[in-house]
Amino acid sequence: MKIGVLNGPNLNLLGTREPSLYGRESLADIERSLRTVAADVGIELAFAQHNGEGEMIDTIHSWRGGVDGIVINAGAYTHSSLAIRDALSAIAVPFVEIHLTNVYAREPERRHSMLASAAVGVVCGFGAYGYEMALRGLARAISARG
Ligand code: DQA
Repeated sequence: MKIGVLNGPNLNLLGTREPSLYGRESLADIERSLRTVAADVGIELAFAQHNGEGEMIDTIHSWRGGVDGIVINAGAYTHSSLAIRDALSAIAVPFVEIHLTNVYAREPERRHSMLASAAVGVVCGFGAYGYEMALRGLARAISARG
């Protein structure tokens, strides 16, 4: 099983970006932890991060047929991008939406997700650990589908 982990805008700045909200772990730290989880679960990973919506969509397209599922933190595009949801639906791969923060406890404009209605599940509010939860949950859901 292979899972793609896709991060969106501003998540390249994790570790230094508003640490009181997003924590002190960098994206590289998160990727390192996920590699440990992947080895434990026995799955392969691919990682990508883009600040642009188009590049994120290109990455999703490039993963067609190459990954069995996607863990995605689309950052602010979560709240606006029908195009990213369409791309995920187009490649027909199960995905889990993840956010470091509890977006439902923040500003009203963060309380709506364009992606959630098509997701297997949503994880938010657990900081960097949420990526591990999302990865384990998605791997289990894919295995259960057979
Ligand atoms: C975020 C939440 C989004 O609202 C925000 O735009 C981000 C990060 C999170 O991980 O908590 O960039 O996706």
